Amino acid sequence: MSATSVVDLRCEYLVNPLGLDEPKPRLSWKMRDARPGAKQTAYEITFDNGGWSSGKVASDQSTHVAYAGPELKSRTRCTWRVRIWDHEGKPSEWSEPAFFEMGLLTRNEWKAEWIGSPHAGGAYSIPPAPYLRKAFSLAKPIRQARLYISALGIYEAEINGSRVSDDLFLPGRTEYKKRVPYQTWDVTALLKSGDNAIGAILGDGWYAGHVHSDPRGCYGDRPKLLAQLVVDFNDGSQQIVATDSTWKSTIEGPVRSSDILMGEDYDARKELPAGWSSAGFDDTAWDGVKTFDEPSVALIAKRSTNVKRMRELKPVSHTISANKRRILLDLGQNMVGRVRLKIRNAPPGKVVSLRHVEMLDKNGKPYVEALRTARATDHYTCRGGPEEVFEPRFTWHGFRYVEVRDLPCPLEGDTVIGVVIHSDTPPTGTFECSDPMINQLQSNITWSQRGNFLEIPTDCPQRDERLGWTGDAQVFIRTAAFNMDVAAFFTHWLQVMADAQFENGGIPSTVPFCPSIPTEGGPAWSDAAVICPWTIYLCYGDTRILETAYPMMRKFVQYLQDTSPNDIRADETKKWRGYGDWLSQNADTAPDLIGTAFYAHCADLMSRIATVLGKAEHAGEYRALHERVRGVWRKRFVTLDGLIAGQTQTAYLLSLQFDLIQPELRAKVVDALVRDIRKRGMHLSTGFVGTPYLTQVLTREGHLDVAYALLEQKTFPSWLFPITHGATTMWERWDGWTPEKGFNDAGMNSYNHYAYGAVGDWMYATIAGIDLDREKPGYKHIVIAPRPGGTITGARASLKSIYGLIKSEWTLAADGTFNLRVTIPPNTTATVRLPSGKETAIEAGEHSFTEAKA
Ligand code: BGC
Repeated sequence: MSATSVVDLRCEYLVNPLGLDEPKPRLSWKMRDARPGAKQTAYEITFDNGGWSSGKVASDQSTHVAYAGPELKSRTRCTWRVRIWDHEGKPSEWSEPAFFEMGLLTRNEWKAEWIGSPHAGGAYSIPPAPYLRKAFSLAKPIRQARLYISALGIYEAEINGSRVSDDLFLPGRTEYKKRVPYQTWDVTALLKSGDNAIGAILGDGWYAGHVHSDPRGCYGDRPKLLAQLVVDFNDGSQQIVATDSTWKSTIEGPVRSSDILMGEDYDARKELPAGWSSAGFDDTAWDGVKTFDEPSVALIAKRSTNVKRMRELKPVSHTISANKRRILLDLGQNMVGRVRLKIRNAPPGKVVSLRHVEMLDKNGKPYVEALRTARATDHYTCRGGPEEVFEPRFTWHGFRYVEVRDLPCPLEGDTVIGVVIHSDTPPTGTFECSDPMINQLQSNITWSQRGNFLEIPTDCPQRDERLGWTGDAQVFIRTAAFNMDVAAFFTHWLQVMADAQFENGGIPSTVPFCPSIPTEGGPAWSDAAVICPWTIYLCYGDTRILETAYPMMRKFVQYLQDTSPNDIRADETKKWRGYGDWLSQNADTAPDLIGTAFYAHCADLMSRIATVLGKAEHAGEYRALHERVRGVWRKRFVTLDGLIAGQTQTAYLLSLQFDLIQPELRAKVVDALVRDIRKRGMHLSTGFVGTPYLTQVLTREGHLDVAYALLEQKTFPSWLFPITHGATTMWERWDGWTPEKGFNDAGMNSYNHYAYGAVGDWMYATIAGIDLDREKPGYKHIVIAPRPGGTITGARASLKSIYGLIKSEWTLAADGTFNLRVTIPPNTTATVRLPSGKETAIEAGEHSFTEAKA
């Protein structure tokens, strides 16, 4: 038995993906080896059935190895294995096999037509969800079957009475004017020789439903389906069943209306017999379908993981109203998803409603004002009978409290269950320290990530917004990549961003584009176009994301050049100057100061990106652009006395974080920053833009104590203030609620907004001490540099990197002795920096360090 083995094979970050359209999929694996210093020195990839073989390649590369075999054809299934050679030159066994399968690579392989119900709703009237079906027969023994399926809107597909998948909100969310994703499902087991049927239920989703404050139908007036079942028989022949005008449809099903923002109305008395998607069902009373012209958008294989039911929560308490009609249940956690309701012995026709809110007002009543136009209410009409279960299909809510109205049966332990849903971004990080309030902060950050990583990164999950705000995503992405594997998730979103980019190169405020927010994102928002690909590159060593996003980034930076007279971005001639340091505390930072700072920062990143991509000429141009814009920034915003215009914390932070300030003025600016924090009684004043850099800059500039003081600050404004008031997710505003003023302006007051959670990356990287090395990204070389401080006496964190598990755990004894335990995965190296500054180079394995008090 070899001491080394190969595990966790991935293709494009995914486990055995079906339906890829990437012509050169990238393969990754992990080395498993308990020996200290374990390292891969060579690999060999082989494909079954005479596909491709890499041969033995002398290389330590174990991630993103691009397929280099013969051209991959539509529907090809490739089964692959890897073996590696260790640092002693000994080979491992071959890994267990993994596979990927190509989707339909050309448009003309789609025989299906877009179909939908003949009935459409209106701007404000939501029609019932259509059910569509088609019966067919298969004459021969079946070898395999695949369903290629997409929708404009949301589909839920069934074959012969069984769901094709439990995944939710399929096929996902995109920039519908440019692209729509499809899924490939292996449905072999659902079919049989003889009579069969296929069916689908369609939801409005983002395509036809309410989006933001817009009326229904931003993209189209009704949902549409495109499906193609391809059955391969044992004898080599094939049969295709595709959506076309011969399908039948009905809107006489139980989903009377369903909308992401409004909620779902379900009348169980109208449930169709279970056989509606099986052969033999009598559909003569059903309508036909309407066929639609090709929307002339790209049809692409979905690259990311889907939304799934991820966990369940049970209520922790409840109260019953005086008239007994309303039961208010507390799930103990602000969550995103919906309720599964179980009802027993109800009279048929009884209507039960579920209203969802994040907070209760001072009278203990649901605080609905902040939902704005989102009704966030589900209605269930009972069928009657011993037991019935309802969970809405095409909607989700952000809530901690559920008000159940007119429950016709006693409340039992399983009457109301909170079903938590989000994109299946596998957890990768854990963080814990000796301060329970900071642990609660970590929990709140993670819950806000769960709640807002639903197909795209959104701002909030409860009100009529739920949009892909670029600024929010940009500030949070690094933290997100600690908590969960978000590589595929952002790969998808960045493609949507490229589609949403304006002709002139500007990036919209929200991605996908939202018609009621037509503005370009402006400083710190649009810059997500450069910052997000760069961050994914750093965290996952993914150069292809840089390559793919490069045209978008270049066009964006050109846009900055075109629209920044004399290199001042967001100058005062502009009507729209961006969102500023959104939600800062009495500390406005000028839009052009922020704008020009981010302009310089993007030029700097572009120069680095061009270097990574081997584009030396571009790198030089961007470097020069960076120098030039930085020069302009200094001239314009550094005051004669060596401070920064506006003198806000955010202005100081940007100057330091982006290395804008002249080196000789650095210390002065740092002093001014610290003075401002002290002047405010150890409080921050930063909004969305400055906050992520606060603790980072203070740490780097020798004020770790101030960084900890801010983090441990409990009075407003601070990260822990909401926690002293029971917050279980991140609030949108530092003062979303205060004892003095109560709720903030209901026009914009979400209790589940991850932006301020951007401090999470500092918690991992500085408190626990797990960081990356830009020169060897993706944690190929790891930096372990914990910095104890504040009242914290111990911390531990772990990160499942693309190479394997990294751990850092330390304790500080009463006599000041510092003990550190570190785990480094095989095939990586690390530098450990102890609090004294002493550095040690280490290799894979477990290591301990002790340092006495200096
Ligand atoms: C959103 C934010 C966003 C902001 C920009 C808000 O409505 O919820 O998160 O970044 O608008 O102005």
